[in-house]
Amino acid sequence: MNDDSSIARLAAILRDETERARPGDRLPSSRELMRRHGVSPVTVSRAIAQLSAEGRVVTRPGSGAFVAPERGRAQAPDLSWQTVALDDRMVDDSAVSGLLARPADGVIPLTGGYLPPDLRPLSALSAAAARAVRRPESWSLPPLNGDPGLRRWFASEAGGTATPDDVLVVSGGQAGLTHALRALAAPGRPVLVETPTYPGALAAAKAAGLRATAVPVDQDGVRPDLLAEAFAVTGARVFLCQPTLHNPTGATLTLERREQVLAVARAAGAFVIEDDYARYLGADPIPPSLGSMDTNGTVVHIISLSKISAPSMRVAGVIARGPAAHRLRASQVVESFFVARPLQEAALEFVGSPAWRRHLAAVRQEILVRQGALLSGLARYVPQAEVELRPQGGFHVWVRLPQGTDEAAVVEAAQRKGVLVSPGRIYYPSEPPGPRIRLTHIASSSLAELDEGVRRLGTAFQDTR
Ligand SMILES: Cc1ncc(COP(=O)(O)O)c(C=O)c1O
Repeated sequence: MNDDSSIARLAAILRDETERARPGDRLPSSRELMRRHGVSPVTVSRAIAQLSAEGRVVTRPGSGAFVAPERGRAQAPDLSWQTVALDDRMVDDSAVSGLLARPADGVIPLTGGYLPPDLRPLSALSAAAARAVRRPESWSLPPLNGDPGLRRWFASEAGGTATPDDVLVVSGGQAGLTHALRALAAPGRPVLVETPTYPGALAAAKAAGLRATAVPVDQDGVRPDLLAEAFAVTGARVFLCQPTLHNPTGATLTLERREQVLAVARAAGAFVIEDDYARYLGADPIPPSLGSMDTNGTVVHIISLSKISAPSMRVAGVIARGPAAHRLRASQVVESFFVARPLQEAALEFVGSPAWRRHLAAVRQEILVRQGALLSGLARYVPQAEVELRPQGGFHVWVRLPQGTDEAAVVEAAQRKGVLVSPGRIYYPSEPPGPRIRLTHIASSSLAELDEGVRRLGTAFQDTR
C-alpha cells in the first residue's frame, strides 16, 4: 500500500517520533520501517521526503535519515499580520468541504455524491484519456467556449432547440453554478432557491454576494404558487432549481409544474438556472428538462458529467442564449480562460464510446439495488426515522427524525460509531423546520458496508434518545 493515506499515516507517526528524539538521532532504516508498519518502500520514502520538506529530518545518502538540528526545524511563522490585512469577506466552504471530505479508515460514508471507485468506468475513462493526451493538438488552445464536438454532444443531450453555439464547457457543475450566479445577478441582489437545497449552491450564491430567499418544495418539487409569491415579494430575477432528483429530497418536478415554473419565471422576467446534476441517475424516465421546454432564453441549463463518471471528470455544459450566454462566457474566460483541452477531449471520447451506454445502464441498476438496501436498513435499524419520499433514482434519501431529536447530537454520535451522515441544517438558507439528515447510498464500498453503516446509525440514534 502506498496510497496517500498510508503515506500520511506513516509521516504522522514519524513526526511524533522526531518530536521526542534528539537532533542528530538516526531514524530506523527503511527496511525496519517497512517491517514495523507493513508498508512499501515507496510509502517510506515519500513519508521521509515529507518530513524532510518540513525541515524535521535530514537525509544523508547511504547513511539514512536523521532528526534535523533544532534550527532546521520548521518554526511556525507569525501570520497574524494577515488577520489585519484581510477584511471579513470570508468564503464559507465548511458545508461543501464537509461533503467532499474523505472518511477516515474504518468509517462508513453515508455522505458524498460521487460513485465509489468500483462503480466508476475506470477502464473506459483511462482509455479515453490516453487517446486524448496522445494527440498533440490536445495541448493547444481550444475554442474558448469548448471543444466543438463536446458542445455538439451537450446540445443534443440538452434537446429542445439547443445548438452547439449555445453551449459553454465549464469545469464541472459547481463552476457552472458559480458562473451562472455571477453572470445573472449583481452582488447584493436576491436569488430564489428551493428549500432545502444543495449547500454548494447556497455557498456559491453567498460567495457571489447574493441573498438567498427560500421557496419550499414538496414531493413534486418546488411549489409554483409560492415561487410566484417569492418573485413578487423579493423582486428577484433568478431562481435556482434542481427539477430532477432534487438534492437532498429526491423530488422530481412534475411535467405540469415544469410548465408552471417556466410561466411564473417568464411573468417575473426572471431566469431559471436549471441544475441538472442528476439527469443520468434516474431509475425511471424523467420528464423533459426545463431547458428543452424553454423558448425565450429563460433557462440556463447545467449538465454535469462528474456524478455519472468520476469526481475528477470536471466537465459540464452550460446551455444559455442571448446576452446571458455572453456574460457566462465572459465570466469563464476572465476566471480561467477555458477547461483543459485533454479533459474535454477525454470526456468526448468517453461519451462517444460504447462503454457510455453500458455504464449508464449499470449505474441505474446499482442505484435501484442500493436505494432498496438503504431503505430496508432504515426500516430495520432506525424505524423511528421517516423517509418523506422514495426518489425515482439518485444517490440520496432525505430523512425526517422525530420532532425533538437533537440532529447535531445524532450526527456526532454516528461519527463516533464510525458512520458519516449529513446534518439537515446545512441544506437550509434559513431556519430548518425540524431535525433531518441526508443519507447517501452510493459512497459505501459494498452493500454489506451500506447495511453496516445504517446499523451503526441506528445504535447512534438510540444513544441520543
Ligand atoms: C445538486 C448538485 N449540484 C451540483 C453539484 C456539483 O457537482 P459537480 O461540480 O461535480 O458537477 C453537486 C455536487 O454534489 C450537487 O449535489
